[in-house]
Amino acid sequence: MKVLVTRQIPERFIEDLQSVADVEMYGEKLKAMPREELLNKSRDADVVITMMSDQIDREYLDSCPELKAVINLAVGYDNIDVDYAKEKGVIVCNTPDVLTETTAELGFTLMLITARRIIEAAQLVAAGEWKGWEPYLMAGTDVYRKSVGIYGMGSIGTAFARRCKGFDMDIMYHTRSRHEDAERELGAKYVSFDELLQADYIVCTAPLTKETADIFNKDTFRKMNDHAIFINIGRGGHVVEEDLLAAVQNGDIAAAGLDVLREEPVKEGHPFLKENKIVVLPHIGSATVETRDAMIQLCVDNAKQVIRGQEPKTPVQ
Ligand code: GLV
Ligand code: GLV
Repeated sequence: MKVLVTRQIPERFIEDLQSVADVEMYGEKLKAMPREELLNKSRDADVVITMMSDQIDREYLDSCPELKAVINLAVGYDNIDVDYAKEKGVIVCNTPDVLTETTAELGFTLMLITARRIIEAAQLVAAGEWKGWEPYLMAGTDVYRKSVGIYGMGSIGTAFARRCKGFDMDIMYHTRSRHEDAERELGAKYVSFDELLQADYIVCTAPLTKETADIFNKDTFRKMNDHAIFINIGRGGHVVEEDLLAAVQNGDIAAAGLDVLREEPVKEGHPFLKENKIVVLPHIGSATVETRDAMIQLCVDNAKQVIRGQEPKTPVQ
């Protein structure tokens, strides 16, 4: 059996995999495997451990006759044609649960730093422009006791809401199905999408699907309050970026904090990078050493289960 790992991961995980299979690992830390190489090296692979940057589409699935499982190092799997994989009998796994708290923490951090203008403030100091105390120097806006609208109340959205409760926020959410536990425990209120847009903070934690793509666009930004702050830790594909830029520049909303973009890494000269009111992070939602270790271990465990002919731990349903 052969396992292909499409990015460099620590040696101890490779050794673990080698106890059950031959392992080939792409040597790069920072770069996605070029498409041709990915296709070529996957042709005889039984299991492939993939990254969000690998497109596991029809062409890919059709060119890998031995493939039994695609194991994605992420909770999201919008880079994989899951329906077609299922049709071909290929198992798809992701890494839920182990990254929930870490990702919610990053989302909450992003909300705080955007509201309090932390990046701008640190840049001002670094540039030697801190001339003295001023009443409104880098004055931001409060988070505690404000209202928050969480779009996508899965495990990450719920973990985010728990943090909001600690800040005494008025919590609203909108998602496919109601979460009575969150309503009971956190006082979260289920609201329509339009009502959600009235919150002081609007936070996207949803997975990207056909239904949620482009949902934050000209119309939705216009419905938000002019003091609203928009936070996205879901996927870049949820947002029409030129509409967000215009909304911030026209004053339709106050600011945005984004951990994800439509095209990653960000292109040089992207207009968001010149806009102080938009904070962009390099997709680091789950990036703590502890959590990345746990995610990779979960991928390894899933791969070993498949190779042994057993049920993987976290298949995508
Ligand atoms: C990160 O975005 C993930 O889906 O794990
Ligand atoms: C989405 O990924 C969520 O868990 O809310």
